[in-house]
Amino acid sequence: MRVATAPPGPKGKPFVGHLFAFRRDPTGFLLGLARDYGDIVYFKFGPWHAFLLNNPSEIEAVLVTHHDQFVKGRGLVRAKGLLGEGLLTSEGTFHRRQRQLVQPAFHRQQVTTYAEVMTRCTAHLLERWQDGATMDIAKEMRHLTLAIAGQALFHADLEPEVEEINEALTSFMDAWYTLMLPFSELLERLPLPSTRRFQAARTRLNATVSGLVRKRQTQHHEGADALSLLLEARDSCGSEYRLTDRQVHDEVMTLLLAGHETTANALSWTWYLLAQHPDVERVLHTELDTVLAGRPPTVNDVEHLRYTRMVLAEAMRLYPPAWIIGRQAIRECAIGIYRVPKHAVVFLSPYVTQRDPRYFPDPDRFDPQRWTPDAQAARPRFSYFPFGGGPRQCLGEPFAWMEGIVVIATVAQRWRMRLIPGHPVTPHPRLTLRPKDGIGVILEHRKPTSAHSCQ
Ligand code: HEM
Repeated sequence: MRVATAPPGPKGKPFVGHLFAFRRDPTGFLLGLARDYGDIVYFKFGPWHAFLLNNPSEIEAVLVTHHDQFVKGRGLVRAKGLLGEGLLTSEGTFHRRQRQLVQPAFHRQQVTTYAEVMTRCTAHLLERWQDGATMDIAKEMRHLTLAIAGQALFHADLEPEVEEINEALTSFMDAWYTLMLPFSELLERLPLPSTRRFQAARTRLNATVSGLVRKRQTQHHEGADALSLLLEARDSCGSEYRLTDRQVHDEVMTLLLAGHETTANALSWTWYLLAQHPDVERVLHTELDTVLAGRPPTVNDVEHLRYTRMVLAEAMRLYPPAWIIGRQAIRECAIGIYRVPKHAVVFLSPYVTQRDPRYFPDPDRFDPQRWTPDAQAARPRFSYFPFGGGPRQCLGEPFAWMEGIVVIATVAQRWRMRLIPGHPVTPHPRLTLRPKDGIGVILEHRKPTSAHSCQ
């Protein structure tokens, strides 16, 4: 298959194209393509025709206007090895039906009921913190968001399993990087150490999810969380639509993993940036001390924590947890003036577009003031898309905002973090954008400046 009118792009090596350059430094490679070749770039990704889009209107076309010409990219399809046919990986009518089913657990009104769980889990975590202690804040945030997802979505206490679950997830993330490559179907059949690690991780995570579902099936539970919606699913006409055990399992696995890993990254990068920007931290503290006056945040405080929200938005601009979104053309179509062949891979990268100086001048600077309503309204909608868009837009977005704001507010009221000197912090783009060797911090206790402090 040949591209008739190919957009500009680098000349790749025969057969592998730019596969190795991409693998070596994915974000650097994509940033370089956008810088050197513009808004629509063509390159070879192994045997596949690949396009990188860096223009908000074309990004919108793929995610929203012409979404039906694309399916999820290979990266997520290959994640089916762990997630099965869950919301993230399924397509078509099945996906639409599942989404409708789970949606009520994420309606704004329902999400407000999770705020209390979020504050409680965070307060519990902070009980262990000590002034002057050093820790990997990325690991700490993964533990926290896993505990919150378990409690809020499934009423499950995952605390005793948190270490093991996170280890298994890390093995999966490393294996995924190989799984998304061409020919990985062959590699997967070989008894390589990475394959064995992936299989062990899958067995471990399957055990958690099965245990969680089994427990609910044998115990009475009051209230509607995501698990009860799945187990007592009825379609919109009221007729009963039961999911198979496998389908329930796959959705729980998807929500558990999608629902904690991304938020943990968003929070980790937020602490990393705040530790380097005392000026921003000061404004944040002033807001927290004024709005909360030393008490824990409640759902009613969230709308008043405007600067806290701006800090989180800006952290997700610089370090979007879902740093790349892939699609594959199901038929020949057009993007801009270019023909996109059937099966071509289309990459959209929040990491690249959100660092474009046309929309974010001095793009590497951490500046929450970019998120005032006026500044935001002056930019095109898809210059910032950490949660994707269109029918596959992140289902958990309201949950993620609520969780991010509540956790930042609860932690930053009492604690500051300083980076451990000499501990290198590097983004590690895999299925999500994790920090490579974590983020080493030194904890510093702080007292809210309000006279109404409750402790
Ligand atoms: C900062 C946190 C988060 C970020 C940055 C994020 C990002 C994303 C993105 C970019 C997508 C779309 C992927 C695509 O179009 O290929 C997505 C989908 C999804 N996310 Fe999130 N997410 C976050 C938190 C959450 C949470 C907390 C949950 C659940 C509790 C969740 C559940 C999902 C689900 C189920 C989908 C699939 C939706 C569908 O295809 O219908 N996410 N997320």
